[in-house]
Amino acid sequence: MKQSEELARRRTFAIISHPDAGKTTLTEKFLLYGGAIQVAGAVKSNKIKKTATSDFMEIERQRGISVATSVMTFEYNETLINLLDTPGHKDFAEDTYRTLTAVDSVILVIDSVKGVETQTERLMEVCRMRRTPVIIFINKMDLEGRDPFDLLDELEKKLSINVQPLSWPVNKGSEFKGVYNLFDKTLQLFQPEKQTIEKDRIEISELKDPLLDEIIPRDAGQLREDAQLLSGVYPEFDIQDYLAANIAPVFFGSARNNFGVKELLDTFIRIAPTPQSRETDKRIIHPEEDAFSGFVFKIHANIDPKHRNRIAFVRIVSGKFERNKYIFHCRLKKELKFSSPATFLASARNIIEEAFPGDVIGLYDTGNFKIGDSLSEGEVLQFRGIPNFSPEIFKELINRDPMKTKQLEKGIEQLTEEGVAQLFYQQHGNKKVVGVVGDLQFEVIQYRLKNEYGASCEFVPKDIHKACWVTSSDKQKLEEFIRFKSQNVYHDKDDHLVFLAPSEWLLKVTKEANPEITFHTTSEFKTEKVEV
Ligand code: G4P
Repeated sequence: MKQSEELARRRTFAIISHPDAGKTTLTEKFLLYGGAIQVAGAVKSNKIKKTATSDFMEIERQRGISVATSVMTFEYNETLINLLDTPGHKDFAEDTYRTLTAVDSVILVIDSVKGVETQTERLMEVCRMRRTPVIIFINKMDLEGRDPFDLLDELEKKLSINVQPLSWPVNKGSEFKGVYNLFDKTLQLFQPEKQTIEKDRIEISELKDPLLDEIIPRDAGQLREDAQLLSGVYPEFDIQDYLAANIAPVFFGSARNNFGVKELLDTFIRIAPTPQSRETDKRIIHPEEDAFSGFVFKIHANIDPKHRNRIAFVRIVSGKFERNKYIFHCRLKKELKFSSPATFLASARNIIEEAFPGDVIGLYDTGNFKIGDSLSEGEVLQFRGIPNFSPEIFKELINRDPMKTKQLEKGIEQLTEEGVAQLFYQQHGNKKVVGVVGDLQFEVIQYRLKNEYGASCEFVPKDIHKACWVTSSDKQKLEEFIRFKSQNVYHDKDDHLVFLAPSEWLLKVTKEANPEITFHTTSEFKTEKVEV
């Protein structure tokens, strides 16, 4: 197959949601359609949660939450789908943010009863920032949910996006009759007891068709009224608006009942973007280019607890990846070769010979990779858009076993390379501050340091409000700032200077008092680093 054909048949995306909205259930249904899992009928979501997807880590099994991000590859109607799983738990939000750098589009699941929840808002912020095309699936229509018009309104207001329904529900909760597809003008009836693949669609090209009154006698009038209202509000759907991330199409359904899912998947493969270009510090790299390139967005440790091995997840951006062929590690400026690159299907990993843009491959790593590393065929470049954001909780790392200092240092270094947390350190006094998005991560770190490295540690809360990366074109001013603020100035893993602001007020005052210093909110900024 030619490179252009390989590109045309690929879709790489993630399903995101607030926990419990139905992401796992929807994922299972997609896998069923793709033949990637063979369990007939509805699969219990917990079952797959616990046995198949993303349970590489012991701790994850114990907690029953998806700590890690895994990749599921399956084929559906000749389309090759790479579905990147994201942890639902908010304490692992950073993992999700990074996964969003590796996808070309997103399906956002909303619970029809709860509407837009906090986690959804934050995830959408990242999508908006990256201009990622989004399709919205309003789930749990079999429950007594909110009014669909109100839901659309809330989506627009809380997520600051324009939405456009492509299907419309006929009633809801116990009276839920089905959905009318406004795009291809078909009515699909809901049969709660029938949880298999739904293929019965009734063509109703004109809503005034009396057939509608026969099929849904009590709801036909309301559907006609709703459709009239919708046609007045929304213009004809334009795929370009969706691809440019200006409009998010909306579907209604019930993942548990496998209702509206096939329709969503069919539309998704039809309209979702093929592998897209990515920006580097030098130029934009296009997927059609011949030379291979890609970046590491995730590092996963200890898949086999007996060995301290890691897997670096690489999103391929251009060219073709081939097994046993040398590739160039841009940061280390060295050639590397991989004999067993893997693709993923839930917990099963298969060795692959070649992979194309949009694909995610797993490379066994012995310590060469950090998140954000770029790979090429020799061109020195750095992919952009994989920044660290300021953590939200900061604690000082205290060594509780001086005999295991080396192990602790190695452990925390490796865990931060994996992106489990961010480490800020001060050369003087060897002080280490660990920053995370959610408290649970401290437990994960403590657990993993003990189990994988034999090191004991404790975390002491620090009064830190935010991390700001600082630069200045005035070397002297920067040196003065570092001296003056020595208590609060740290280095990050890449040796960038970071100001750990004790409070919002102090950050404001410090900014005002130091106009020559630039305070960056992410670790990715275009200013050249000033050596001090
Ligand atoms: P998540 O991955 O987003 O966290 O959500 P998950 O799929 O695990 O779904 C959360 C709960 O919502 C599950 O119930 C699931 O069955 C239920 N659910 C998903 N889709 C629908 C739907 O369309 N309608 C209704 N009524 N419920 C839905 P659970 O009780 O936690 O698990 P289980 O016992 O059903 O497996």
